[in-house]
Amino acid sequence: RAPEPTTLVIFGATGDLSRRKLLPAVFGLWQDGLLGSAFNIVGVGRQDMTDEQFKDYAVAALKESKETDAIEPGSLEKFRELLYYEFGDFGSDEVYDLVGKELDRAEKAHGGRKNALFYLSTPPSLFEPISNGLGRLGLADQSEGWRRIVIEKPFGRNLDSSRELNEAIHRVWDESQVYRIDHYLGKETVQNLMAIRFGNAIFEPLWNRGFVDHVQITAAEDLGLEGRAGYYEEAGVVRDMLQNHLMQLFALTAMEAPAAFDAEAIRDEKTKVLRAVKPIPSGRVDRVAVRGQYGPGSMDGERVPGYRQEPGVKHGSRTPTYVALKLEVDNWRWQGVPFFLRTGKRLPKKVTEIAVVFKRPPLGIFPGGLERNVLAFRIQPDEGVSLKFSSKSPGQEMVLREVVMDFRYDAFGAQLESPYSRLLLDALIGDATLFPREDEVDHAWQIVGGILDSWDTPPGGTGDAPDFPNYPAGSWGPEAAEELIGPDRRWRRL
Ligand code: BG6
Repeated sequence: RAPEPTTLVIFGATGDLSRRKLLPAVFGLWQDGLLGSAFNIVGVGRQDMTDEQFKDYAVAALKESKETDAIEPGSLEKFRELLYYEFGDFGSDEVYDLVGKELDRAEKAHGGRKNALFYLSTPPSLFEPISNGLGRLGLADQSEGWRRIVIEKPFGRNLDSSRELNEAIHRVWDESQVYRIDHYLGKETVQNLMAIRFGNAIFEPLWNRGFVDHVQITAAEDLGLEGRAGYYEEAGVVRDMLQNHLMQLFALTAMEAPAAFDAEAIRDEKTKVLRAVKPIPSGRVDRVAVRGQYGPGSMDGERVPGYRQEPGVKHGSRTPTYVALKLEVDNWRWQGVPFFLRTGKRLPKKVTEIAVVFKRPPLGIFPGGLERNVLAFRIQPDEGVSLKFSSKSPGQEMVLREVVMDFRYDAFGAQLESPYSRLLLDALIGDATLFPREDEVDHAWQIVGGILDSWDTPPGGTGDAPDFPNYPAGSWGPEAAEELIGPDRRWRRL
């Protein structure tokens, strides 16, 4: 799978995401020889910079980022030569005209090919103006080479704005040219979920209401705001993590087997299961969703400030940093099987996993209680899959103990690539399998939109608005989350 000659145009090239993730990902792909010989990058930003300054900037970013692969001697000098920079106001035509000229230049260097991937790594308010600007100058037109657009998250602020954004994008681009990126789908273990479910005969027969008691999806983060208050105050945990990453993990776990392993078949199934999620009635949000905000606490023995004490956060902010949600799916497979999703900042550790918790055996013939088997997909860190079951403890007595069968990725001896490398390469090749389609995004918004409507309403939302902060940094979230899953189920201790 090698991409054709291409120009990668990064809007917001001097921003945080580009510096920390995109440039290292592109560099890694290029250094591994995966981008072909005719490839170059045009950074576009609002900052006045020359090509030389941008080259210096990118090289410094690569040296600094933890995500950069080991740099081979002479590599950075050669990579520099691929970089160009244009700047201007994203609302005017001038900057797109300059981008057009960059494509003309690349066309000569690339032997008459004008393929381009436009990556929008900017604040969401610029998605529409940039898409329109590219459209006005004819840069979405595919007569001289393919043109694709990658759009970062969050895709809209709510259902209405995501629909408006989709409409605006479609006035310029065909859906087949649009790549909405969700970096969780580029994680190796997320893809392995499909491989394990549909590449083996032993899991799928159990994957239903007959055997599964419930499913838990957790994305816990130990980090706090990391200087992103401006963005996070507007987004909050529902827009930042739930609407996209967690809903995608949910869809992949709950979907039916696709007819083929291709973009449309897989996305059809994801959409279908999202459509089957039982709507949350507006007056009942607080029965199925719990919100939290962290207060001061301690992490690894060190005191850390609460959310409201983070620089840039409004005094008395009501922005949630934790959410737990119970979803029910109205289809045959999952009738009566709840899905519990939770994610939050400043939890005790960084861990993302999907746990399928099975029913207890129907009858206990041994002393002691009966445990539930758990099949857990560890997405990060220590990527792997584990199966927990009961076994006899050695000795005279018939005593059962829980044991774990563990598969670790180390077994492959390969280093896992960054999700951005994987997804960038897919977009360059034109494989949209791991990019959410318009209708998926829409359905995910339909599910979480009601929660936001209820919680965003000032002052501090409706229903039983909790007093914030309601969990200390370094704890597993608000107590109400235990009630949400209980009384006879509990969150996994991770
Ligand atoms: C991003 C969110 O999309 O995902 C961040 O904006 C979050 O707030 C991050 O920290 C988590 O990603 P990962 O890959 O580190 O789990």
